[in-house]
Amino acid sequence: MVAKARLVYVCSGCGAVSPRWRGQCESCHGWNTLVQQAAPKLEPRPGSSFGLSHGPVPLAGFTREDTPPAQPSGLPDLDRVLGQGLQPGGAVLLGGEPGIGKSTLLLQLAGQVASSGSRPAVYVSGEESLGQLAARARRLGIADEGLLASCTTSAAEAAEIIGHSDSPALVVVDSVQTMASSLVDGVPGSPNQVRAVAAELVEAVKKSRATLILVGHVTKEGLIAGPKILEHMVDTVLYLEGDRQHFYRILRVFKNRFGPTDELMVLEMLGDGLVPVPDPSTYFLGERDETASGSAVVLALEGKRPFAVEVQALVSKSYLAMPRRTALGMDLNRLNLLLAVLEKRLGIQLGLSDIYAKTGGGLKLTDPGLDLGLVAAVLSSFYDRPVPPRSVFWGEVDLSGRIRPVSGHDARLKQANRLGYKPIFHPPAEGKGTATLKDFQKALFGAG
Ligand code: TYD
Ligand code: MG
Repeated sequence: MVAKARLVYVCSGCGAVSPRWRGQCESCHGWNTLVQQAAPKLEPRPGSSFGLSHGPVPLAGFTREDTPPAQPSGLPDLDRVLGQGLQPGGAVLLGGEPGIGKSTLLLQLAGQVASSGSRPAVYVSGEESLGQLAARARRLGIADEGLLASCTTSAAEAAEIIGHSDSPALVVVDSVQTMASSLVDGVPGSPNQVRAVAAELVEAVKKSRATLILVGHVTKEGLIAGPKILEHMVDTVLYLEGDRQHFYRILRVFKNRFGPTDELMVLEMLGDGLVPVPDPSTYFLGERDETASGSAVVLALEGKRPFAVEVQALVSKSYLAMPRRTALGMDLNRLNLLLAVLEKRLGIQLGLSDIYAKTGGGLKLTDPGLDLGLVAAVLSSFYDRPVPPRSVFWGEVDLSGRIRPVSGHDARLKQANRLGYKPIFHPPAEGKGTATLKDFQKALFGAG
C-alpha cells in the first residue's frame, strides 16, 4: 500500500507552517496566504549503517589540502574585512538599503577577481539587463574577459552556474529578492521564497570551489523579507551602510565563520565607483574650523577601529513654547539625557534654548564614548567659546555627572597620540583623566 503523502499549509507571506488550512495566517496575519504543500519526508535514506546516504567519516582523515585556503579578492581592505579573502565554498550575504551601492561594489569586486586570477567571476543579475550591467562595467572601467554576466531570475540556473565545470572563483547573485525557486510556492521576495532561494544557492556553493555573494535588500522599516531571515544560512554577513546624501559608505561584518566580526571598511562613492578610504581615522573631520564654538572632536570606536569624528552642537535662543531638540548621527534620547544631566549637575539653564547636535559626515555613532565630546560641544556653544585647539574627547557620562570609562581606552589613546591631539580629555585611567562633569567644565571653561 502506498502511504498517503501528508499535507501541510505554508504561508506564502511569512513561511509559517500550519497543519490545517486557515483563512488568516496565525503568524503574519495575512489573509488567504496559506498554500497546500506536501510535508517533507523525514525517513532516513538507505546507504550506510547510520541510515544516511553519506555516513559519518573520521575528521582526522582530512588534510590541509582538503580545506582550500581563502583566495585574495584583489581588494586588500576587503580581504581584511572578510578574514583572509574569498573562501572557496563560502556563502556571503551582503545586505543594505536599495541604492546604497551594493551592485556597484560587487561588480567592482567581480572585475578584480576576474583580472587577478585565472578563474572567471560571474555576475548573475535578476534586477538589471545585460546592457545595463555592461554600461555600469564601462563606467567603472572594468573590461576583463574573465568577467561573465547572466540575467536570470531562476535560482536553479544560478545554482547551475555556481556548479559549472568552468569552476568560477566568484558568483554574485543580485538579489535574493528577485530570484525564484521552483521548489516552493510564493512570489519572489516573500520569506518563503527568499529562504528557498538561499538554501538552493548555499547548497550549490558548498559543493563547489566558488565563493557565493548573495545580495539582500533591507529597507529602513525592515518590511521586506530579507537578510534577517538568511543570516543563519550563510557563513558571513556584511552590511553596506551610509547615507545616500553623503559620499561615504561603511562595510561592516556582522557574522563571520572565517574571521573577526568587528572589522569595517570605509569607502567613498565617486563618479567611477566605490573607492576605499586609505586612512579613515580622520575622514569624518572634514574641514573643521577650530576657532568656532560648538565643535569638538571625539575619538570614537567603531568595531575595533578608533575614528576621530567631529561633533557639533548649536545652543540658540528659542522662540517656541516647546524648545526644539534635534540630533543627527546619534540617538535623540541620548542628547536629551545629557542635557538633563547638564542642567541638574552643572546648574546651567537650557530650557529656553533650541539645541541641535550632529556628527561630522553624518556618521551614525552608537559608541558611549561620544558623550563627553557631545557635552564639550554643547558647553562650547552655550558659553560661545571654542574648546582648546587640537583637543580631543571620549568618555561616557552617567546620570550622577560622573565620567565613566569606556571600552578601547588604550586604542583611543594610541590613536589620539598618533594624530597629535592635545589636550586629551578622557575618563579616569592610571591616575590621569577627568572624574566628574564639574571638573570637566572647570578645566574647559573655568566655570563652575
Ligand atoms: P547601486 O550599486 O545600484 O546600489 P544598490 O545595488 O545597493 O541598490 O548604486 C546606485 C547609486 O550609486 C546610484 O544612485 C548611482 C551611484 N553611483 C555612483 O555615484 N558612482 C558610480 O560609479 C556608480 C556605478 C553608481
Ligand atoms: Mg543593485
